[in-house]
Amino acid sequence: MDKKEVKLDVNNMFVDRVGKEHGLTIEEVNAFQDKVSQAHNNIKKDEPGFMKLPFAQAEIVKEILQLVEETKDRYDNFVVLGIGGSALGNIAMQTALNDPYYNYREDLRKGYPRLFVPDNVDPVRFRSLLEMLDLKRTVFNVISKSGGTAETMSQYLIAREAVVKEVGEDRLKEHFIATTSEHSGYLLEIARREGFRTFYIPDDVGGRFSVLTPVGLLSAAFCGIDIEELLAGAAFMADKCSTDELWKNPAYLNAVLHYIGYQKGKPLSVMMPYAHSLKDVADWYRQLWAESLGKEVDREGNLVNVGPTPIKALGATDQHSQLQLYMEGPFDKIITFLEVEDYGVEVEIPELYEDIQGVAYLGGHTLNELLMTEKKATELALTQRGRLNQTIVLPVVNEFTLGQLFYLLELQTAMIGELFNINAFDQPGVELSKHYTYGVLGRKGYEDKKEDYFNRPAKDDKLII
Ligand code: PA5
Repeated sequence: MDKKEVKLDVNNMFVDRVGKEHGLTIEEVNAFQDKVSQAHNNIKKDEPGFMKLPFAQAEIVKEILQLVEETKDRYDNFVVLGIGGSALGNIAMQTALNDPYYNYREDLRKGYPRLFVPDNVDPVRFRSLLEMLDLKRTVFNVISKSGGTAETMSQYLIAREAVVKEVGEDRLKEHFIATTSEHSGYLLEIARREGFRTFYIPDDVGGRFSVLTPVGLLSAAFCGIDIEELLAGAAFMADKCSTDELWKNPAYLNAVLHYIGYQKGKPLSVMMPYAHSLKDVADWYRQLWAESLGKEVDREGNLVNVGPTPIKALGATDQHSQLQLYMEGPFDKIITFLEVEDYGVEVEIPELYEDIQGVAYLGGHTLNELLMTEKKATELALTQRGRLNQTIVLPVVNEFTLGQLFYLLELQTAMIGELFNINAFDQPGVELSKHYTYGVLGRKGYEDKKEDYFNRPAKDDKLII
């Protein structure tokens, strides 16, 4: 596999391209060098777990590949039971690296199972999935770092019952894997009791940073994705980003650009791939950015209520949905295009209807040309209108470049967290609604939340129309 480098093109963020009113200046960026060097030292000192992953998993990779080799013939389906950080990376990798119709095309699967990641507890969707699958030929990976997430554990309980009906208690453990924390949690307890094969998520790797742990690697390997190349790509980007020099480190540079943009009234961060295969990477990024950066207090406990809002869009589809807003609406966005130089296939547009000029001009071109021209045209139009935009260029979409992209976006998140002086690795804001749910459904220790819930103000009928 070619070792090709992912690059960040930030030309269209600056005054000479987008004009004085909204553009950034090189001097403004350079003024952050000291702050970035200091933040770099902090990051190096704390060394968040995701930074170690590209270098510390040789044994795990071996174990995963051996499991896939030994068991894949038993399964037609691999199902991920998990939510948020325990699901989005799996989806992103599958969409990026396997054929769009992988699940439908046995000829392309080469003996690997289909992949399903419901990432929700919608009753219609989940019931339908279980009814559709031949459970005798299905393996579930139950993924929960905390081991107690209500959605995931509910999915598990339902799937367990369905599987037992099909195969019996004795064979249950052939159909479940648990991926969880090594030291504690209900899922770990259950996995031990049931004798499930278990993989671990390192303590210092949070859900949304866990795509390159067994959380993502297991489903990827079960679907024929080269997980060694993924990690090699991440290691390559880690090496490139090991310097604190702003103009040599794309993760740090992008963090600074977004930070300055945020301070200048651009709190919306749009990720817009011009490759359908990367649309779920934008979804993964949306969670990474939102949960990491949306914070009430800074590290000293001061009320700050910060956080750039991530938005996912897709070129060319959203040119017909969002672009009008991006072109003419408020100047509150930074648009990051994901560009792919080589799609791996070329689709020609036939030359037909010579006499109908409005259609005939398309003939002889390719869909590749059309999509890339649309990207460049959109970029040019936005730039001319003073809209900040930049491009992450992937020479191709493969394991090596995707590994680079994951690492780049994770490190960028850690750096901007430093600049905001917040903890990018916790998510206290999601707890309260969880606790209400626990209380209402009867979990011990959450009785007060149940009371709150039922004492909440009655709905005013006049306000329901
Ligand atoms: O990024 C995160 O930490 C969250 O999105 C979690 O991944 C999500 O809430 C699921 O948590 P868990 O893996 O503990 O079930």
